[in-house]
This record gives sequence, C-alpha cells and structure tokens, in this order.
Amino acid sequence: MTQEKTVALVTGANKGLGLETVRRLAGRGWQVFLAARDRRRGIEAAAGPAGEGVEFVELDVTSDDSVAAAVKAVAERVDRLDVLVNNAGVGGPLLDPADMDADMLRALYEVNVFGQVRVTHAFLPLLRRSRQPRIVMVSSALASLTHAGDPARPEHGFLSLDYASSKAALNMIVSQYARALPGFQVNAADPGNPATDMNHHTGVHTVAEGAAAIIRLATLDPGGPTGGFFGSDGPVPW
Ligand SMILES: NC(=O)c1ccc[n+]([C@@H]2O[C@H](COP(=O)([O-])OP(=O)(O)OC[C@H]3O[C@@H](n4cnc5c(N)ncnc54)[C@H](OP(=O)(O)O)[C@@H]3O)[C@@H](O)[C@H]2O)c1
Repeated sequence: MTQEKTVALVTGANKGLGLETVRRLAGRGWQVFLAARDRRRGIEAAAGPAGEGVEFVELDVTSDDSVAAAVKAVAERVDRLDVLVNNAGVGGPLLDPADMDADMLRALYEVNVFGQVRVTHAFLPLLRRSRQPRIVMVSSALASLTHAGDPARPEHGFLSLDYASSKAALNMIVSQYARALPGFQVNAADPGNPATDMNHHTGVHTVAEGAAAIIRLATLDPGGPTGGFFGSDGPVPW
C-alpha cells in the first residue's frame, strides 16, 4: 500500500473553496480524498467537477464517530496522509454582538473550532507517517486582530462575534500545533473574500482566487514556513 503520489484530504469539499482545492490538487496528479458530511453531495462532487482520481469520504467534523470512520476508510486505502486541509466551516447569522448569546457561539464553534481539532487529532497518526506532513487551516482576514483594530480596514467595520472569534481561535490553534509538531508545516490560510454559498455569493473574489492561498500552503516545499498566516499575496498580520 505504498504510494508515490502525494496524498491529501480536504474537508467540506463538496462545494466552494473545498471543491476548488480538491480540483486543483487532483490536477497536480495527487491522490485526493474529497471529504463531505453529506453522502449524496460528496459522491456527486467527487464523480463530477472534482476531477480524475478523487475519492469521496464521508466526514462530519462535528461527530467523533464520523471522523473515526473517515480515518479508518482512508487508512484502508493509503498508508499515510501528506496534506490535511481543514476547510469545512460555517458562517454566522450577522447579528449585533450584543444580541448574541453563548449558545449561538457554541453551535458555530462546534464546526469552525472544535471540528478542526477533532479532525486534526484523529488524522495525526496518518500524518506522522508522511515525510512532509502539512496541515492547512482555512481561516479568514476577519480573524486578524491587527486588521480589526485598524479603522482604515474593511474588517474593522465587520462585526461578527461568533465567526471572527472562531477564526481567531483557529489561528492560535495553528500556532500551537506548529510549535508542538516538529517536522510539520501547519499554517492558516486567508482566502480573501470569494463568492460562495457562505456569503450568498456576495464576495468580490472568484473561488479560484480564494483557493490560491490554500493551494500555496498545501504545496509548500520542504523547509517552507510553519506557524504562519498567509493570504495569496503573502503574510497576513495576526
Ligand atoms: N467565502 C468567503 O468569503 C470566505 C472567507 C474567508 C474564509 N472562508 C472559509 O473558507 C472555508 C470554506 O468556505 P466556503 O466559502 O467555500 O463556503 P461554502 O461554499 O458554504 O462551503 C462550506 C463547506 O463546509 C461544509 N461543512 C459545513 N459544516 C460541516 C460539517 N459539520 N462537517 C463537514 N463539512 C461541513 C459544507 O458542507 P454542506 O454543503 O454539507 O453544508 C461545505 O462543503 C470555510 O472555513 C470558511 O469559513 C470563506
């Protein structure tokens, strides 16, 4: 079961940035697992727009059982995982922060924060078998405390207690993993503002432009950065 091809898995990959990331990585000749929580949507994406050689794996990031079953399914197909892209995410209801209660945050954190840790922790044994393990966490410029504190930046005027704070938590999770996992490249990607279902297609970038930062971090050379936060143009301030 030894593969020459680079092996990658992308969560939340039945549409949007995840699907584009799968398509681009598969286009490099990589062996790619398209992970999605909905079986029908995942199979359709893997069989259609994702490209040749893409395999569907069912994975709901909020479920221990689902994630364990996904690890088992992948381990039956490959002996290692080289690249994990934690892309699955949900947006918030865009309420005034003063109108949000803890339960509203909890539901979103279950996907955007706990889900990323659940998936990463479960796939670590397979990642540790790679010669160059890479983890990409799909974050957002809205997580940048520097941008949030700068009245000249659009992020300053965008209030989202749940979503922005979930991605800021994810950024620190990246920093923690990067320092705890020598030999790994663990980085956060800022995809900009691509038009996807998440923002009801109001984004100003294309999905291809948005995926560029993710692809860059998924395809880092050995010796490339770890513990950083990058957009398609370079570093994003924390
Ligand atoms: N679009 C933007 O402007 C933007 C900007 C910055 C960061 N991001 C981040 O980019 C990532 C991808 O978002 P997108 O814009 O491509 O949005 P999208 O088109 O809505 O895709 C989100 C994906 O996440 C999946 N998902 C949601 N909950 C899940 C769960 N419990 N388990 C597994 N998968 C789950 C969705 O699956 P279903 O189809 O089954 O719901 C879907 O495949 C997210 O992390 C998002 O926060 C987006």
